[in-house]
Amino acid sequence: MTNALYNAFSRVLSRMWPKYGKAGRTPMSTRKQQFHLFALVIVVAGSSSFRPPLSLRSAADRAGVLVGTAVRPAQLSETAYATTLAREFNMIEPEDAMKWWVVRRSQDTYDFGPGDEVVRFALANRIKVRGHSLLWARDNPPWLTQGNFTPAQLSDLLRKHIFRVMQHYAGQVFAWDVANEALDENGEPRDSIWYNRPGIGFAGNGTRYLEQAFRWAREADPQALLFYNEAEGEGMNRKSDAIYRMVREFKRRGVPIDGVGLQLHIANLDLDVADLGANISRLAGLGVQVHITELDVSLPLKPDGRLVSEDDLTRQARIYRDVVRTCLQTSGCTAIQTWGFTDKYSWIGSSSRGARGMALPLDRTYQPKPACKGILEELRKGKSLRR
Ligand code: XIL
Repeated sequence: MTNALYNAFSRVLSRMWPKYGKAGRTPMSTRKQQFHLFALVIVVAGSSSFRPPLSLRSAADRAGVLVGTAVRPAQLSETAYATTLAREFNMIEPEDAMKWWVVRRSQDTYDFGPGDEVVRFALANRIKVRGHSLLWARDNPPWLTQGNFTPAQLSDLLRKHIFRVMQHYAGQVFAWDVANEALDENGEPRDSIWYNRPGIGFAGNGTRYLEQAFRWAREADPQALLFYNEAEGEGMNRKSDAIYRMVREFKRRGVPIDGVGLQLHIANLDLDVADLGANISRLAGLGVQVHITELDVSLPLKPDGRLVSEDDLTRQARIYRDVVRTCLQTSGCTAIQTWGFTDKYSWIGSSSRGARGMALPLDRTYQPKPACKGILEELRKGKSLRR
């Protein structure tokens, strides 16, 4: 075997470099040739440019967890964007492309174009798709929010929307945020067109309107996992207590819910994630899984757009690392997803009017930041410390 390999290499080399072949004027000794050849093989095999880079995706596959990110279909034609996405993630979620304001620009139309682009990309690269979101107080089109619809009309609109969208993506979207950000910081239902302004018929009845949405969703696509997604309910607080009580109640009464999404848009660089694990554990104890759905850690910026402090990159990395480790070590946490992956495209800039930014694991030129290396190291450690 070694001989055959050696002979094949020799033939190639003798063509490229006559010294190695019979045609050479000063033929080298066989021993010397063998030494050169094996040295070459070792150098090539050992050089990092030869080895494909170990990605978050392959480390996550090995750890048995999903690593995802929010995506913008308009960017998929950018080579660096698309290749990084396919290499680093085994799950994606359209950042906006499956929201009401994109899909339902008018009452009578459904525009699945942008969402379909995300799904096509995912299928071509064996990536799972999370859907986001079917019911939310925000990101709705004006014809809906200003249409003066009656509760009966709104109920009909929501039911038809859930059926049409979920059935369009059945078999392609494996998990849906059925409802998003429905609770306020006290754990009470937020005012919204779906709840009480005027609502779909359950105003004043707590989470009863959400229950209705989950029941429709299960009927629309029985295979999809159904999630309740929420912001600022990651640790132990009044909102996460309310989520816990809602899920417990839903489970007790057979309302279909499979998971809770914890967003984790983080701005506090001193954040202690200690009670994130406890919160995930108690939810998992109810028989639902938890996805970390919108992780980003925004940093304060100077007016010229540069970092206030270079140290913040290290503090940011510490948080990413802690969140990933917590998820891996807590039973029931099955996915870690960031809200975008390159600082080139992030909602933080516009939503903070430029005061914050650089929230994601890769910089604007797709180079890994300390945060990315932290995530990778934790994924490589895997679930070995799992409780
Ligand atoms: C944001 C998107 O990133 C922006 O592009 C869009 O303009 C507004 O919405 N919580 C959510 C996400 O559930 O849908 C939001 O995404 C960020 C906060």
